Amino acid sequence: MTSGRSFYITTPIYYPSDVPHIGHGYTTVAVDALARWHRQAGDDTWMLTGTDEHGQKMLRAAAANGVTPQEWVDKLVSESWFPLLETLDVANDDFIRTTQPRHEDRVQQFVQAIYDRGYIYAGEYEALYCVGCEEFKPEAEILDGTGPFEGLKVCAIHSKPLELLQEKNYFFKLSEFQDRLLDLYRSTPDFLRPDSARNEVISFVKQGLKDLSISRSAFDWGIKVPWDDTHVIYVWVDALLNYATAVGYGSDPEEFARRWPAYHVVGKDILRFHAVIWPAMLMAAGVDVPQGVFAHGWLLVGGEKMSKSKLTGIAPTEITDVFGSDAYRFYFLSAIPFGHDGSFSWEDLSARYQAELANGFGNLASRTIAMIGKYFDGVVPSSSEPAEADLAIRSTVADAARLADAAIERFRIDEAIDAIWTIVDALNGYITDNEPWALAKDPAQRERLGTVLYTCAEGLRALAVLLSPVMPESTAKLWAALGAAEALGELTSQPLREAGAWGQLPAGTETGALAPLFPRVEQPA
Ligand code: MSP
Repeated sequence: MTSGRSFYITTPIYYPSDVPHIGHGYTTVAVDALARWHRQAGDDTWMLTGTDEHGQKMLRAAAANGVTPQEWVDKLVSESWFPLLETLDVANDDFIRTTQPRHEDRVQQFVQAIYDRGYIYAGEYEALYCVGCEEFKPEAEILDGTGPFEGLKVCAIHSKPLELLQEKNYFFKLSEFQDRLLDLYRSTPDFLRPDSARNEVISFVKQGLKDLSISRSAFDWGIKVPWDDTHVIYVWVDALLNYATAVGYGSDPEEFARRWPAYHVVGKDILRFHAVIWPAMLMAAGVDVPQGVFAHGWLLVGGEKMSKSKLTGIAPTEITDVFGSDAYRFYFLSAIPFGHDGSFSWEDLSARYQAELANGFGNLASRTIAMIGKYFDGVVPSSSEPAEADLAIRSTVADAARLADAAIERFRIDEAIDAIWTIVDALNGYITDNEPWALAKDPAQRERLGTVLYTCAEGLRALAVLLSPVMPESTAKLWAALGAAEALGELTSQPLREAGAWGQLPAGTETGALAPLFPRVEQPA
């Protein structure tokens, strides 16, 4: 079943020279949860992630390690970046590397196309460059160095000295796109989300845009400028194009028409590249601009943006080894309003794991399955005439499913989880109020007991479906224990937008055993 609606979503492509930390993992699981939701809702979904392998940063790191840049990136990608996707249980459809021929050839084609259309010219350039950012820095991000960097200009983001570069460069006429970009932001308010991101970009563009240097000649680790092989294409131009080359730009028009345009989810640090340069490049080539760009906030550790260069980096496996991949996904996606910064702490993670996953959702699942086992020999009982409390659960489920889907449309995964969690809370309250263990003692209440446990089991059916994009592993275990696979088919093929319709789990379904979904963990030291 497909809705026919195309949903193409991307993560940024990561610099493989850093080992993955929980900030990279955050973007990746957010995009994966959105993609899984749409896929399961029947949309024609495609999720892309990958690595950004050219540029001076990579060249220097390879030299420092005594290997060629290609050897260096091959090693990092296979040892660190592919495994990240497994660690976090990510179901991406493709992984692009900017050193692949499928990308390099099409980048040249694209750059040639905008050159032929008159948007590129040659000029002299002298400016301060940050290798960490791979960017010539604007005035506002240049600071006077202190301590060991006294007397030097440093990057506001990396706190490292900037390098003065003087070169002949090719320039892209970015300044010509100011009005068209402002029109785009005005006419399509959802192009940039959240509002804070949109406002920031609008005021930046209103101040005027400078033409962009898009080639470098001082080193050669990059894609050659097609009409001048003494230059390589600026790494950001090369990198942004991954979103188009991966889905057939320049090679497979049918596939490109099917997928493009994309939604891009990025950290706010790289918003301007995606909100200003990228749509202008596409306009210059006569290609549709993206559907939208969503900028999420930073993970803060000890109040600062977490980063490896500042030694606050935490590897995702440090969390998943203790709590599991579902808890990682749930924690970051529920605890931080998507679009805002969020502070990470082990205390907060452990507290939420215990309260929401182990005691909330996990315990609800365990006791429901256990009571069906004990009182009905593991067979889902039938429901008789519903009482008011039962009807209240049904409407909680219907409302939650509707609100969650609406929240996902707005990219607010945290709000979707909040909506879904009303089911967990309502069912736990329902069990406390209805005391199935007391009903079980009175044979005259047998029918009522059946209704109560059917309500719990059917509520769990809805929870498994709605939470599977966020917690694929534990919901699959719950699905198996409910016996739902036999009765209804695979969890991932349950239509998400119909999850709120009551009464899908048939009475008579045989349940199985369920080990605790979120077992007690040894606290990390
Ligand atoms: N290679 C460029 C992106 C090119 S996209 C065409 C790049 N790579 S990166 O490895 O530095 O990764 C940047 C992305 O990682 C950020 O945009 C963000 O999505 C994620 N994060 C890195 N550190 C982060 C935090 N501390 N917090 C949240 N996300 C962070 O830039």
